[in-house]
Amino acid sequence: MRLAGKIAIVTGGGSGFGRGICERFVAEGAAVGVLDIDGGAADAVAAALGEKALAVTCDVSRAAEVEAAVTRVAEHFGGLDILVNNAGISHRNRPMLEVSEEEFDRLFAVNVKSIYLTAKAAVPRLRARGGGVILNIGSTAGIRPRPGLTWYNGSKGAVNTLSKSMAVELAPDRIRVCCIAPVAGDTPLLATFLGEDTPERRAQFVATIPWGRLSTPRDIAAAAVFLASEEAEMLTGTVLEVDGGRCI
Ligand SMILES: NC(=O)c1ccc[n+]([C@@H]2O[C@H](COP(=O)([O-])OP(=O)(O)OC[C@H]3O[C@@H](n4cnc5c(N)ncnc54)[C@H](O)[C@@H]3O)[C@@H](O)[C@H]2O)c1
Repeated sequence: MRLAGKIAIVTGGGSGFGRGICERFVAEGAAVGVLDIDGGAADAVAAALGEKALAVTCDVSRAAEVEAAVTRVAEHFGGLDILVNNAGISHRNRPMLEVSEEEFDRLFAVNVKSIYLTAKAAVPRLRARGGGVILNIGSTAGIRPRPGLTWYNGSKGAVNTLSKSMAVELAPDRIRVCCIAPVAGDTPLLATFLGEDTPERRAQFVATIPWGRLSTPRDIAAAAVFLASEEAEMLTGTVLEVDGGRCI
């Protein structure tokens, strides 16, 4: 088992990629705090995984909730080794000037500010363990943007870049920071990216991916296990595209 004895937090663990990461982490021997704003979804994932998982309802854009959730997980399992910043939202695919200021602010609060907040809560705990791993879920959207998703693309560009900056700043603490950049994936969020979820729109997206299919939670979880494991000890600041060649 590649994560035996490790204690992890996965934000947005109640659905999609986050759920896949929680399942794989537990299968690889980790204990996982399943954080989600949707408490019912977090509960369902944790219940399916048993005593190695703890559900915590948490809005990652709110400092007090993040601090309380990180404390809860660390106290329950006895520390923290791995933080996965996966929770994210998008605005519906549409012209950039049609996105409201409220939607923009919420987007950056959930996708970007959350990483600042979880760092404030988690980095002292990782330092206390003598090191650890932070994985941020960025996106190919921040590398090779599609039209109609401008503000989302920008938020993921920030995630990709700040992962590198965190990596250089935290390396002396033996804390690695890597980023996973998935291509469009088959999760509940996909409909937001497509604008309307029709077979034609899906086919348009798939046509831009050389490997010929959307990404899956299994693909993203496999990358997360590798990056979080000791096999990846020399990798920090890496933005790993899990994209079937989309960014080439
Ligand atoms: N699906 C894709 O095509 C795709 C592609 C590239 C990157 N991503 C990124 O992957 C990550 C996961 O996306 P997904 O496709 O699995 O989406 P999803 O909608 O299936 O799951 C996201 C989870 O995050 C939770 N969440 C949303 N806002 C939250 C908040 N404020 N606090 C805590 N939890 C919150 C949701 O309740 C949900 O359970 C996101 O960061 C997304 O931007 C997705």
